[in-house]
Amino acid sequence: MISEATPRLVVFVYLPGELDAVPAGELRLSQFGKDISSVFVYGTRYVQRPNALEIDPVSLGFRAIPRRAGEEIAPAHGLSLFGGIRDAAPDAWGRRVIERRLNAAGAELPEAAYLLETRDDRAGALDFRMRRTDGPRKHPFNRIVQLDYLLECADKIDNDEPVPAEMLQLFQYGSNMGGARPKAVVEDDDGLWVAKFPARRDRFNEPVAEAATLALARDCGVEVPRTKVARAGGRDVLLVKRFDREKAGGNGYYRRHFNSALTLLGKDETESLGTAYSEIVAAIARFAPADKARAMKQQLFRRMVFSILVSNTDDHLRNFGFLASGRYFELSPAYDIMPTPAVGFDRYQHLTVGRMGRLSTLDNALTECGVFALTVPEATAIIDGQLKIVEQWRKRFAAFGVSATDIDRVASAFRAPRHLGWGPRGA
Ligand SMILES: Nc1ncnc2c1ncn2[C@@H]1O[C@H](COP(=O)(O)OP(=O)(O)OP(=O)(O)O)[C@@H](O)[C@H]1O
Ligand SMILES: [Mg+2]
Repeated sequence: MISEATPRLVVFVYLPGELDAVPAGELRLSQFGKDISSVFVYGTRYVQRPNALEIDPVSLGFRAIPRRAGEEIAPAHGLSLFGGIRDAAPDAWGRRVIERRLNAAGAELPEAAYLLETRDDRAGALDFRMRRTDGPRKHPFNRIVQLDYLLECADKIDNDEPVPAEMLQLFQYGSNMGGARPKAVVEDDDGLWVAKFPARRDRFNEPVAEAATLALARDCGVEVPRTKVARAGGRDVLLVKRFDREKAGGNGYYRRHFNSALTLLGKDETESLGTAYSEIVAAIARFAPADKARAMKQQLFRRMVFSILVSNTDDHLRNFGFLASGRYFELSPAYDIMPTPAVGFDRYQHLTVGRMGRLSTLDNALTECGVFALTVPEATAIIDGQLKIVEQWRKRFAAFGVSATDIDRVASAFRAPRHLGWGPRGA
């Protein structure tokens, strides 16, 4: 079906330390069926602001902008959308909720509709409005105590069951973040949390397993947000503290502008598979503050090694985030790390690890440790340190509340060192 989208949207940015967004420019979207093209025009006033943020440093970076304010800019590398804008849009789950709400279940909507329909809870610091004079669409956030009700709604959507309109109405305020899993944003006195719900397709209690894995990652020196596990409707829900929102007293939240690694690499989603970790390192070298780049490269190495150790093979480019900090981008805390049970011992990461390609082994990780600003002895020490901790995973998962049955179900995700390409083989 041919559909023409709303052609022009005003893109607003919540600048650091400010509670009101300012207009940054205009997004012109044309869409015929699945064929989308877009251009962006920065406002002259916006680019003159000393604290203006780049919406997307690859396509809309400021090195070229002062000259180009008022000019139409197309996304780099022939992309149809700007990565920085796509990162603020919902993914599979949020789109499903919007489609349901607009009573178009199953039918895709024009891209502009997904942008306009997202609310205050979307990732990062952007907002999309029809006109410069439009105010924000603010709503009170759902509270953690409403989790039962929210999970009931998420279940219905996940199962393609009808959802009462008032339930959907409430659910929409918090369903606009990315990712495919059922989720909602909820608030308590500490701030905002991403609630990740159990899903129909889960093979084990994924919320608790993800919480246990994130705790294990933290012990391995991976920077992760605070998490907690809440009960709703007799089931477990993972709560992950949002790293792109900070409480501003009782007045709402300050936001941090978010770009995924996909955006900083100027790639399309279909190009994620097989992209190398070393390309993320190159993005760090290009966009991170010089005094922090080294630590971030080493942190990325830790994340790669940990993903190998727990068979977190869904390490795609949207599962790495960056937060704007002035004219730079800093690696965000890690998220979405899950052990993936598998048959056999040979497995592959989504991203290329080292000289042996995507092969998920520790010796492969070591092949390019220099790229991550680590010497071989330093990288070896990190690997050995993580191995020692991850070896204890059964005990730690049990202490975390993962059931004995679920521990058995995920066990194949954890391999012995000899199957990880480490230490004596064939032992
Ligand atoms: N703690 C957090 N703070 C802020 N943003 C977050 C946080 N956790 C996740 N996000 C954002 O929300 C998106 C979805 O989260 P996540 O990757 O955990 O969900 P998912 O549904 O499991 O994803 P996938 O589809 O990759 O399996 C992320 O891509 C990231 O943009
Ligand atoms: Mg994800």
